[in-house]
Amino acid sequence: MSNSNQVRKSVSEFYTQAVRSGSGCACGCGGGDAVPKSFAAQFAGYGDDVAGLPADAVANSFGCGNPLAFSEVKPGEAVLDLGSGAGIDLLIAAHKVGPSGRVIGIDMTDEMIARARANAAEAGFANIEVRKGIIEDLPVETTSVDWVISNCVINLSPEKDRVFTEIARVLKPGGRMLVSDIVVQDVPAWVRESMALYASCVAGAVSEAEYTEGLRRAGLVDVEVRERYPYDFDQVKALIESEVPAEATASCCGPAPSSCCGGDTAPAPIDAATIAAEVAQKVWSAKFHARKPAERTT
Ligand SMILES: C[S@@+](CC[C@H](N)C(=O)[O-])C[C@H]1O[C@@H](n2cnc3c(N)ncnc32)[C@H](O)[C@@H]1O
Repeated sequence: MSNSNQVRKSVSEFYTQAVRSGSGCACGCGGGDAVPKSFAAQFAGYGDDVAGLPADAVANSFGCGNPLAFSEVKPGEAVLDLGSGAGIDLLIAAHKVGPSGRVIGIDMTDEMIARARANAAEAGFANIEVRKGIIEDLPVETTSVDWVISNCVINLSPEKDRVFTEIARVLKPGGRMLVSDIVVQDVPAWVRESMALYASCVAGAVSEAEYTEGLRRAGLVDVEVRERYPYDFDQVKALIESEVPAEATASCCGPAPSSCCGGDTAPAPIDAATIAAEVAQKVWSAKFHARKPAERTT
């Protein structure tokens, strides 16, 4: 198995476990009881958008923003959600596009796909389709969607340039992308290289500059960051404590750093407070916008 496939497998196992345990918290926190509610309110920012949605979809929201907030998605349009999880953004998108529009979710984790399909059925949306696949190789027709959305997923991809290229491929000319995701700036190598912190969206995240350059390299234009929500010490600590087993934080890049730690010396012992002190204000949720040029033909 390639290294990238190994990373995806480990991420998928993490989210299978997260949705089974109902923690409601990973990259951000949904409605689970394991974390302070203010966390969910600040990072998801869903407000009234979740009124009336199936409770399971809200409780199993693992996002770090609300990509569709104030969006100009219109009735009849096609929306594609990368890493749709239990389906919260699929439901909000289905409401916006109405019966004449369509919504497609892509996820690699069977447990998430089952939840999203059940939540779409419970909400009575016949225009939501959830497909199994990876976001690096989308099972979606070229130039077929008006919008690509995603909520806290691309940071988890070990092959982000492939994802950006796929976004550019599936968008119709003039189609747009709205993505909420975690970005980092200046976090130490021992944090970036810790698999224990990868699935909770810290270790795999790149900087805003790397993100926007990747989108531009893929041929997208009007690339910009529209919102930012920095994670403070308490929020990072709560996130790590709720998601990362204590013994795992010390693995690989632990007190006796191995070669995987890029030569950095990790402080010992490594606990949630130590990591949070290192990472607070260097990690934030950002909302990215991009557009496929109208004249583009591929
Ligand atoms: C942090 S959760 C976010 C779920 C959802 N967007 C939300 O806001 O609740 C990440 C989701 O992305 C999926 N995922 C992660 N990497 C993926 C990949 N490379 N291809 C497809 N799905 C992926 C996981 O299975 C999981 O459901």
